[in-house]
Amino acid sequence: MDLYLDTAEVNEIKEIAAWGVLAGVTTNPSLIAKSGRPLEPTIKEICEIVQGPVSAEVVSTSAADMVAEGRRLATIDEHLVVKLPTTIEGLKACKTLAVEGIRVNMTLVFSANQALLCAKAGAWCVSPFLGRIDDISWEGMDLIREIAELFQVQNLGTRILAASIRHPRHVTQAAMLGADIATMPAKVFQQLIKHPLTDLGLKAFLEDWARASARV
Ligand code: E4P
Repeated sequence: MDLYLDTAEVNEIKEIAAWGVLAGVTTNPSLIAKSGRPLEPTIKEICEIVQGPVSAEVVSTSAADMVAEGRRLATIDEHLVVKLPTTIEGLKACKTLAVEGIRVNMTLVFSANQALLCAKAGAWCVSPFLGRIDDISWEGMDLIREIAELFQVQNLGTRILAASIRHPRHVTQAAMLGADIATMPAKVFQQLIKHPLTDLGLKAFLEDWARASARV
């Protein structure tokens, strides 16, 4: 499973990219707005740092406008993946862009049938939103399980991008269920590596070593 950052903050991306495990980035209009920077130069800069798939989302709602916006976004960088909402207009736009060889990430997926339709429209990946399902007291992970089984049984090559990840357990479970990608905030990335027993163990090793060195 590839690990992506879900952010438009360039400093966070630089920091996690230096770990050597970052495969891509997802953004959305809320994240771009929060960064306070213009869309196209920000996305270009992110693509240059990551050198892997970077999703940028359209803000149009009609298929024709989404296609025009998607085509323009795709010129920003070879790593650009156009993100479209999972609506009827989004499906139409997905089909058109996919036929042109532009990779599409279908976002705001909340059911296996939506994922099936997106795959049939040629989506490069679908983004089921785990955390937002958990937020309404349903089980987000059940959706990943269903989509993974459906895609396998139907032999569909569209990738599953587990999105709206809130905590490290989401990452473990999505990986075990066969998600192809998980995208998460920088905070969750930091939580993946941190463990109190690692810190305590390292502290003890270094103290023992310092004591032994002081004796010689
Ligand atoms: C995915 O591509 C979305 O940008 C993101 O994961 C949404 O997460 P949220 O539900 O925490 O806003």
